[in-house]
Amino acid sequence: MKSVYVTRSLPGPALGELAKRCKVTLHRKALPPSRKELLKNVKGKDAILCMLSDRIDKEIMDAAGPQLKIISSYSTGFEHIDVEEATKRGIYVTYTADILAEATADLTLALILACARNVVQGDRMVRQGRWKAGWMPDLLLGQQVHGATLGIIGLGRIGSAVARRAKGFGMDVLYYGRRQKEQGLATYAELDDLLARSDFVSIHASMNGASRHLIDREKLRKMKPTAFLINTARGAIVNERDLIVALKKGQIAGAGLDVFEKEPLPKSSPLVRMKNVVLLPHIGSASRQTRHRMAEVAVNCVLDALSGKRPDPYFLVNPQVP
Ligand code: DGY
Repeated sequence: MKSVYVTRSLPGPALGELAKRCKVTLHRKALPPSRKELLKNVKGKDAILCMLSDRIDKEIMDAAGPQLKIISSYSTGFEHIDVEEATKRGIYVTYTADILAEATADLTLALILACARNVVQGDRMVRQGRWKAGWMPDLLLGQQVHGATLGIIGLGRIGSAVARRAKGFGMDVLYYGRRQKEQGLATYAELDDLLARSDFVSIHASMNGASRHLIDREKLRKMKPTAFLINTARGAIVNERDLIVALKKGQIAGAGLDVFEKEPLPKSSPLVRMKNVVLLPHIGSASRQTRHRMAEVAVNCVLDALSGKRPDPYFLVNPQVP
């Protein structure tokens, strides 16, 4: 029987299916495996089913051994895997591609609405007994979403799904990035122009060398003082220190963040004490349906590779591997 190391328990029935056909070593703890645990548990495995929090590099591949056939990531991002090294060794790398696009777009809209209409502040006010005067003409006045301009950085599957929803809300949609696949969704603008014109700037670029700290002090200065920054992509696309300064100085109105440079966000981060931010614990794809489907894809890729088949090309990061 082939053996698989799974670095976290997954929601849905897929892991059960995997366990019927392979010898599964499952990391059951809530926290991710430490580097030491990872190095120990990959030893002799034919497959690794990992999460975005596991750094899978040369050292891990060495520790696993030459029989390692596939690294299947339960994620859309794969920047935590040394794909070049895996390809050199003939190891398949698979990911869950864009099946989380709609779920992540839903959460992006939730953040836009929460920031614009003081949803979190309102909830706190009611719970903490600070809502004293009943209906008030000027209580928690927010920003109108209808008619506002949304600037999308990266109009891939997630960005496009956000654009479709934003149009339903009557927003004007700009985008920066590669050409749009679905025509008529959004109007192209250069990044500086998009930043200067948008009431909400939402990041949907993938994480790579070019996008690291794409939004920094200089870019934040281009935004309107009434605008909000929304990030459901990767924390490191924004220079968090610069963002904190911009928020403190009122250079922008606020931010809705589902991702951070360091996760979990340390309690000592100044963001935690700021009133003009909405903070979420990286749950962009966390709808039951999407997470179950992600588990199914990650497991199927492992089962294919271990039964001598090529994983579905749609989920294969390195098609160069024969
Ligand atoms: C991913 O898969 O890359 C998301 O950030 C988490 O679901």
